[in-house]
Amino acid sequence: MAILVTGGAGYIGTHTCVELLNEGHDIVVVDNFSNSHRESLQRVTEITGQTFPIYAFDLLEKEELARVFEENDIEAVIHFAGLKAVGESVEEPLWYYANNVISTVILCEVMKNYNVKNLVFSSSATVYGNPNEVPITEDHLLTATNPYGRTKLMIEDMLRDLCLSDAGWSIALLRYFNPIGAHESGRIGESPNGIPNNLMPYISQVAIGKLERLNVFGNDYPTEDGTGVRDYIHVVDLAEGHCRALEKIQTSTGVEAYNLGTGRGYSVFEMIAAFEIASDKLIPYSILKRRPGDVAACYANPIKAEKELGWKASRGIQQMCQDTWRWQAGNPNGYEENNILKPQRKPPVLNKAADLFMPASK
Ligand code: NAD
Ligand code: UFG
Repeated sequence: MAILVTGGAGYIGTHTCVELLNEGHDIVVVDNFSNSHRESLQRVTEITGQTFPIYAFDLLEKEELARVFEENDIEAVIHFAGLKAVGESVEEPLWYYANNVISTVILCEVMKNYNVKNLVFSSSATVYGNPNEVPITEDHLLTATNPYGRTKLMIEDMLRDLCLSDAGWSIALLRYFNPIGAHESGRIGESPNGIPNNLMPYISQVAIGKLERLNVFGNDYPTEDGTGVRDYIHVVDLAEGHCRALEKIQTSTGVEAYNLGTGRGYSVFEMIAAFEIASDKLIPYSILKRRPGDVAACYANPIKAEKELGWKASRGIQQMCQDTWRWQAGNPNGYEENNILKPQRKPPVLNKAADLFMPASK
C-alpha cells in the first residue's frame, strides 16, 4: 500500500516525502514540475536511501491520474499540488481556479472511482482572511481576500460537501501558518522562482548577497515593534504533522480542519535579528509602506492538532533560521544549477481542463 503525494517535488512536499519514507511508508509522487525541479526528488532519495515512482503530468489530466491508481495500490492521498502566489492569483485568477480547484475535483473523482477515500489537503491560514482575533482557532470565520485564498476556501467547502454526501470519506484540512526552514541535511529547501515574495527566502537571499536589502513592509502596525507578526513554523514540523494527520484519517471518517502553527508570533524585526545570529551576516533593510492586503498579526491556536493528532511543533526560531541558512549557503541558486530545465510558468489550456472535468462514466 502506498501514499500518493501530489506536488511531492515542491517545498513542503519534499520534506513530507522524507518523513513518510523514514516512517516506513511507500510513496508515489505526481508533479507537473511547474514550480519545482526533478532534482528535489533525487535529493529525497539521497537523504532517505529510497526510491519511489515519480509521475510527471498535470493533475488536470484525469486519464493519467487514473493510470497511477491502476498501477499502484494507493491507500491515501496527501494533496500538496497547487499554485500559491497571491499576486499571481490576482493577475491570473482563471489559472488558479483551474489549477487548484478543478484539479482537486478531478483528483477526488479518480479517488472515488478507485474507492480511495482518505485525503490530507494543504489548506492555509489564508482562509481566516483578516483575522478578528489572535490566536486563531479553527472555528474562526472563514473568508477570502484574493483568488488564491478563495481556491483554498472553495476546496475546503467542496471537501466538506463530499464528506456529507458519503460517510466513507475521511479528510484532514491542514491550515498551515508560515512554513520556513529546511531539512537539517541542507539538501532540500525552498527554491523560489525569481525574486521571493515571502519574508524568509528574501532575508536569506539578502544574507547570501543575491539581493541588496530587505524592504520591511510597514513599521506602523499595532504590534509590539510596529512590524507584521506571523506564526513561522519549521517545515519539518509541518511534514511530521502530515504523518500524524495521515494516521488520524486512517482511523476515522468525516472532515476536520487543523491549524498547523506553533502558537507563537514573531515580528519582521525579530526575524531579521534571529537570521543575523544564525547566518552571522548583517541584513540591511529599508522601511517601506505597508504591503496591500497584509494583516498586522496572524498566529495559530494549535491546541486542536495537539489534542486530536498528537502533534505539536518542536523546532524553535533559531533552528528555523539555521536550517534555512544551511540550505541557502549550500545552494545559493536553489536547485537551478543542477537542472537545466527551469520551471515553466504558463496557464493551462482551459478547454482541455473542462473536457477532462467530465465524470469518467460520461
Ligand atoms: P510548491 O510550489 O513548492 O509545491 C507545489 C508543487 O505542486 C510543485 O512541485 C508544483 O510543481 C506542483 N503542482 C502545482 N500544480 C500542479 C498540477 N496541476 N499538477 C501537478 N503538480 C502541480 O509549494 P509548497 O510551498 O510546497 O506548498 C504546497 C501546498 O501547500 C500548496 O497547495 C500551497 O498552496 C499550500 N500552502 C503553502 C504555504 C507556504 O507558505 N508554502 C502556506 C499555506 C499553504
Ligand atoms: N514582509 C516584509 N518584506 C518582505 C516580505 C514580507 O516586510 O519582503 C513582511 C510582511 O509584510 C509580513 C511578514 O513579512 O508582515 C510575512 O510575510 P510573508 O509574505 O512571508 O507571509 P504572509 O503571512 O504575508 O503570507 C503567507 C503566504 C500566503 C498566505 C498567507 C496566509 O505567503 O500565501 O501566509 O497563510 F496566504
